[in-house]
Amino acid sequence: MKRDDVVKDVLLEKSQKPSNSEGKGYASANVALIKYWGKRDLDLNLPYSTSLSISLSHYGTQTVIKQSTIDHDQIFINNQPVELDTQFSRRLRKYLDLFRNDVIKFFHINTESSVPIAAGVASSASGFAALVNALNQFFGWDLEEKYLSILARLGSGSACRSIWPGFVEWQVGHEPNGMDSYGVPLYDEWSEFRVGLLLIEKKEKPISSREAMKRTVSTSPFYKPWQDHAKKQLEEIKQAISARNFTKVGSIAEQNSIGMHATMYTSWPPIMYSLEKTFTLIKRVWQLRKRGNSIYFTQDAGPNLKLLFLEDDTAIIQKNFPGIIIINPFTQMESTHAK
Ligand code: PMV
Repeated sequence: MKRDDVVKDVLLEKSQKPSNSEGKGYASANVALIKYWGKRDLDLNLPYSTSLSISLSHYGTQTVIKQSTIDHDQIFINNQPVELDTQFSRRLRKYLDLFRNDVIKFFHINTESSVPIAAGVASSASGFAALVNALNQFFGWDLEEKYLSILARLGSGSACRSIWPGFVEWQVGHEPNGMDSYGVPLYDEWSEFRVGLLLIEKKEKPISSREAMKRTVSTSPFYKPWQDHAKKQLEEIKQAISARNFTKVGSIAEQNSIGMHATMYTSWPPIMYSLEKTFTLIKRVWQLRKRGNSIYFTQDAGPNLKLLFLEDDTAIIQKNFPGIIIINPFTQMESTHAK
């Protein structure tokens, strides 16, 4: 099953003609508490296991898409033109190939993001989800979130969770075409829950998550045990979220993340996204916990850390981690996607 077939199945009889002169879409970045690591289908970005994340409300990407007036795509980041042969543009254009038709051959896209691109801060997640929301408005598809999530997944796996706010579960699914693998919201509001972003390095990562996943799955002896354990952790964290048991949520998330990085480090050749600064900051989190503060971390495919804590610990966090970006994932937002 190829990506084009999935797009055909999702769009069925939808019009190829845009219903608006432009489409605007917003999506939050998201941070996984139970990680997605490893693809059972490399083309459709289908995972080996269910993951669970929290969307970061105002921290995300806004994209505007319209028809290009010239005979090639035009891509802008924060209103600045981007060359078409950069890694960023190539990936984006390849994804847009799925949506070109007899009416719209080339697109004009402007993306504004508060998320550094390709540094393990979920830029591709909010980027592809925002793009799908923008395409949905541009073409007037009026798709249900389930289908928006499936389309976003084709761009970047974790993007399927960015279609929703709050806690989101990306269900592993079993169908070969992935029609049962998409993000579903948990609807648990937790107004004291905070995520702190410690941006250690904004540069592109040395190895893409796609390559790193492939290598981990094929070479780490700890991949399977990590994945089996993650299934139990998923059930436990969902219970802890509904019971508002923060210590449990934080400790499960931190263990799941350390486990994921352990599978990378035990791959061959080994993969390590952490920098020295990452370890220094991890130790600071552990020191604070020894002193009784309920503060945890999680780390994705990059050196940056995301701290998990409750509102009451904000002052301690700010004192110990100067420059941290603090996000309240449950601030009111009208909608994550413009309809
Ligand atoms: O969606 P991708 O291909 O960028 O993979 C992201 C994987 C992690 O961020 C490390 C984990 C996750 O679940 O988001």
